[in-house]
Parts: sequence; structure tokens; C-alpha cells
Amino acid sequence: MRNASIIQFRHVTKQFNDETVVLDDVSFEIEGGKFYTLLGPSGCGKTTILRLIAGFIEPSEGEIFFNGKKINQVPANKRQVNTVFQDYALFPHLNVFENVAFGLRIKKMKKTAIEEKVSEALSFVNLQGYEYREISEMSGGQRQRVAIARAIVNEPKIILLDEPLSALDLKLRTQMQYELRELQRRLGITFIFVTHDQEEALAMSDEIFVLNKGKIQQSGTPIDIYDEPINRFVADFIGESNIIKGKMIEDFLVEIAGKPFVCVDGGMNPNEPVEIVIRPEDLEIRPEGEGKLSVTVISQLFRGVHYEAHCRDLEGNVWLVHTTKKIQVGDKLGLDFNPEDIHVMRFDESEEDFDRRIEQYTEDESLGK
Ligand SMILES: Nc1ncnc2c1ncn2[C@@H]1O[C@H](COP(=O)(O)OP(=O)(O)OP(=O)(O)O)[C@@H](O)[C@H]1O
Ligand SMILES: [Mg+2]
Repeated sequence: MRNASIIQFRHVTKQFNDETVVLDDVSFEIEGGKFYTLLGPSGCGKTTILRLIAGFIEPSEGEIFFNGKKINQVPANKRQVNTVFQDYALFPHLNVFENVAFGLRIKKMKKTAIEEKVSEALSFVNLQGYEYREISEMSGGQRQRVAIARAIVNEPKIILLDEPLSALDLKLRTQMQYELRELQRRLGITFIFVTHDQEEALAMSDEIFVLNKGKIQQSGTPIDIYDEPINRFVADFIGESNIIKGKMIEDFLVEIAGKPFVCVDGGMNPNEPVEIVIRPEDLEIRPEGEGKLSVTVISQLFRGVHYEAHCRDLEGNVWLVHTTKKIQVGDKLGLDFNPEDIHVMRFDESEEDFDRRIEQYTEDESLGK
């Protein structure tokens, strides 16, 4: 279901000191009431996007809209946005209550109203009874919750979270992932969450923007992005994949390891060199002589639930396979896969070009061209 857009970036570019382009012509739309994640490697521009939304910096070019109104020049304190910083930025000399109450005191809210709101915010994050603790007496996960309570107490329309879980150990991190997701659902406001951890992004988000070098590489639901990566960067960054060189003979027919296979992609030039992606869990092990490719197992690891094996085909391509079948190095096997598990990618195709191509060839298909 589509909600009204709350934030819109139109052709936003950001340069610092008129030199390096940190964000390069970025356009996207954020709908109200959803959980968004900005995902990408260090330095790709994630924090810069949050700072633009929060109003700490202005775009060099392009426009930013909030509920349809341009806000390029609106100062940070006039935006209905609150940020949870990576280090939480709590006030160490104030107790939990005063940390959460800080913004309300600045607004000169009445004492009784402040007490009510702080108490409500603390119960939202399960910290009732901790009001008079010092910040130094709180654990990492509890500090994280104080920072979130401090953001939600102002009743913002959007909460920005900049890698808020990166300082936590794995177990607490997983627990906080559930808590944050649940909190977003209960509050019904928009969360924009930043991480460089793809598993975290897949687990938590309604929508993910995958960024690299100041550009959005792909946007979509976790399933879209996992199942249909549009270029090598996304395929490689999200999950494990086999990325193998191939040739698109014609629509719905791709050559892999010297053999033609039916696939579900099209809209490329005849015999165009392409890259194909098949996820390790979509490859099936068959006895020798069966399946689509003949391979030899060259390495194997037991991972608890499944085996992870590297297999080499007759053309020298190495395939990563996940299987629950017991296999050994040196085994000669067949590999099988379905046409819909082959994802064909053009070299360096952008999201706009991808969308245009899909639209064009599905139209041509339906016209029977
Ligand atoms: N004030 C600034 N002046 C100059 N360059 C900056 C400034 N702020 C950020 N940059 C540069 O912009 C690029 C993107 O920075 P940003 O902080 O948005 O990255 P990020 O995706 O949040 O990375 P990380 O995952 O490491 O936090 C980096 O190359 C950074 O050095
Ligand atoms: Mg950052």
C-alpha cells in the first residue's frame, strides 16, 4: 500500500568545499509511516543524506521537500525530525529523566505535561523505573533506548537513526532490531535507519536504498533487492551470490558456461555480454550427468544447517552452492537451477535504465513484437 510522500529528494547533489561530489544527483521519495534503510559501504553518503533531511547541512544543488513543501532553507529546529546518533550523544551530567525531558524544557512545556510525556516515552522503550539513574549507570542497550525515548518524546514525523546498533554486541543488537521494528509499528511514524550491515537492512526494512559512491544503486523492498539485484555492486553487497559472465543470445535465452539456457530476462542487444547472478541456495545438487552443468567439488565446509561448497564447471567458473546433501571434495556432480533463478544483469546499468528497459520489453512482449 502506498502512503503519501513525506520526504522527497529531487536531483540533490552535495559537494563540500566545492570539490568532491559526496552525493551525485540523488532522487527518492519516502512515504509516511514506513521503515526505510539507507544501506551502503563506509563513505557512500548515508550520514550526509540524514544531515540533509535533518537540516544540519544544505544541498549544493537540487531540492528537498517535506510534505510537498520545499525545505532547503528551513533550519533544523523548525523541522519535525529527530535524530538518534551513533554514539547516542546523551548528556552525561543529566539523569535519564532529564535527558528525555531536555527538548520539552526548551519548548517551555508545563511540568506536569513534561512528566506525563517523559513517562510515556520511557514506557515505550521499556525503561519505566529508570528515571533517576545516571547515564553512566546504564548499559549500552539501555543508553540506546534513552536516545530513542529522547527522540520520540518530541513527537516528530520522522526519526533518523544513524547506525544506532553498531556499538552493541551481536545478541543485544538482534534484540534491538526486533524492538526498533516493533516500536516503529506501534508509533506509526517514519524511521530512516542507516546501516552498512546488509542482514540488518533485510531483516528490518519496508524499503531499502542501496547506496554506493554517492548514488542510489537500487531501491526496493528487501525481497526485490535480494531477488532482483540490478547490478554487480548490489548483487555482491547483498547476500552471497554467484556472479558469472555470460552472453544474452536473445530475449529469454542466455549463454552460461558455453551452453544456452532459458531465462526470464530480456530487452538487451542480441549476443550482448552480460553478468548473471544465481544465489547459492537456488543451485541444486544432482548426480553426475544430470542437471544443467557438470561440476567438480573443489572445497567444502559444514555450516551446521547446510554444507557450503565451491564447485568448478567445465569452463572454469566457480559456483558457490548451499546444500543439505553430504558432499566431498573431488565429487563429480550435476548442478541444476530454474529459469527464474537466473538473474541477468547488464554491465553498470543504473536503476533508471533498468526500469526503462523492463518497461520497454514487457510492453513489446505484450504487443507480441
Ligand atoms: N563536512 C565535510 N567536509 C568534507 N567532506 C565530508 C564532510 N562530511 C562528509 N564528507 C565526506 O563525504 C563522504 C560521505 O560521508 P558520509 O559521512 O555521508 O558517509 P557514510 O556513508 O555515512 O559513511 P560511514 O558508514 O563511514 O559513516 C565521505 O567521503 C566523507 O569524507
Ligand atoms: Mg555515517
